[in-house]
Order: sequence, then C-alpha cells, then structure tokens
Amino acid sequence: MTGPARLAFSNQKGGVGKTTVGINVAGALNARGRDVLFVDLDPQGNATEGLGFRDAYDEAPPSLFDVLTDPERRESFPDLVLDHPEMDVVPSNIDMTAAEPELTLSRRGGEQLALALETVEDDYDYVLVDCPPHLGYLTDNGLHATRNVLIPALAESTSKRALELLFDHVEALELDYDITIEERGVVANRVESTNEGRTMLNWFDEAFPDIPVWEVRKRVALQRAFSEGVSLFEYDPDVDMTETFLDVAADLDEQFGFDDGATVEAAEVSR
Ligand SMILES: Nc1ncnc2c1ncn2[C@@H]1O[C@H](COP(=O)(O)OP(=O)(O)OP(=O)(O)O)[C@@H](O)[C@H]1O
Ligand SMILES: [Mg+2]
Repeated sequence: MTGPARLAFSNQKGGVGKTTVGINVAGALNARGRDVLFVDLDPQGNATEGLGFRDAYDEAPPSLFDVLTDPERRESFPDLVLDHPEMDVVPSNIDMTAAEPELTLSRRGGEQLALALETVEDDYDYVLVDCPPHLGYLTDNGLHATRNVLIPALAESTSKRALELLFDHVEALELDYDITIEERGVVANRVESTNEGRTMLNWFDEAFPDIPVWEVRKRVALQRAFSEGVSLFEYDPDVDMTETFLDVAADLDEQFGFDDGATVEAAEVSR
C-alpha cells in the first residue's frame, strides 16, 4: 500500500457519535500497533477537547484554518501535530468557524486537506478525519482527502433519511472530482434494547448487505473517557465496548490490507 490508509467519520446529522466513534476507533487501531494521525476538521473542536487539547483550540494562528485556506501555509501542516499517548492529533481551532465561507471562495476549495496531508504522507499507518455535522466544504475536504468513509448513525428511524442524503452527497462528490469514495462500514451507535433500536439494526443490515454494520451500545464510560481526553483503551480497557472497537479496527486493517499476524499480541495485551 502506498501512503497511509485514510478514513473519514461522517454523517451530516449532529450528535450521532462521529467524534466518539472516531476517537475510539483510533484508540483501537493504536492498541493493534498502528500509527494514527487524527485530524479534527470540525469547527466545534469536540475531538480536540475529547483528546485533551482544549487549549490548542484557543491558540493564536497559524492553525488548521490557515493551512486549509492559505496555500503558502500548507507546508506548515506538520507543525500543527500534537502528541497524544495513543495517537498524533491535528487539533481544530476557534478560527475554523471561518473556514467554510473561505473555502467556498477559494480555488480547489474541496481539495485543501488532501494537499496538506501530502506533507505527512509517510509518517502514519492511518489518517482519521472527524467531519462536522453538515455537508459543506469541510466535509467535502474530509471525504475527498480520505476517499473512505465510516458512518456512525443512531439506531432510530431518522437515520434512514440522513444516510440517503449522505450517499447522494458522496455520489455527487465522486462525479465532481472523478474519484471513488468507499463506504467502509456503519456503526450503529448508542444502541439500546428498544423495539425501534432492534428494528433499525435489522434495517441497517438489510440496507448495507455489502459493508459491515457494527453495534456500539450506550455506555457512560465513553463519556467519561472523553472527559479524560482519551479513548476507552487508555481509560478502562475492561469496558465491554472495547471488543467492538477492536473488531472495527481489525476489519479496517483487513479492508486496507494490513497484515494481521504481528499485531494480535498488541491487541490482546491491551484488553
Ligand atoms: N455509545 C455512546 N454511549 C453513551 N454516550 C454516547 C455514545 N456515543 C456518543 N455519546 C455521547 O453523545 C454525544 C454526541 O456524541 P458525539 O459528539 O460523538 O457525536 P457527533 O456526531 O460527533 O456530534 P457532532 O455532530 O456535534 O459532531 C456526546 O455527549 C457523547 O459523549
Ligand atoms: Mg463531532
């Protein structure tokens, strides 16, 4: 494989778990021995906070905003990288709230993250990108740069419409840029044992026969880990949901062609 595997966490619906799932998939990949770069593309900066970098969000320029909107700043992308115990992180920043209108006006507005990532090409096994909750230029940058998407969704009926819109948007991007964007899986999140939950899990399975559908249950430990600035794997590897995130990570490794043998041990140790 040339360059790192790249994956965006996207769903234009808000609060479905993009950030939570993203951080914990990153933690699981790290537990399997992968080098991960996590990019917070959301002006809300939730992942930045949930990885313990609240201060970086308020820091003075240059930030990710400058790298995405000023081609002369692109080369300084590696300078933005922060050191987390489980991964490297490019934080979001308060200035990112101005990125959307700026990108709308700029040349190649949807391609800026892809261009920035070229500066760290050989340093990672995975680049993971947390997208904001709408289908604008920032999400386009995330999807265009990664060409792969993992879709967190709530197991409730509103998700049907949300996923239709997302798939329409992905198709439009593929045509616009003449690229292919692969759907790598759906994570049904905050699952509870209600009738609607069960019905929707069946719907996900039937709607996506060709891609994996995982189930992450509602767990307070996920919120606590977020408050501690780490994934479950650092917070408390005994929480049952770590199994699910390790399954996701193992499946991604397989989909992206990483050899499994050497890393099983690392995953076992982390449990
Ligand atoms: N499986 C879960 N169990 C319990 N709480 C969860 C779970 N997944 C997410 N949450 C909580 O739900 C809220 C929304 O999650 P999160 O921020 O990950 O969603 P999001 O899709 O990234 O939101 P946004 O669209 O604003 O970016 C957070 O408070 C998070 O802690
Ligand atoms: Mg989020």
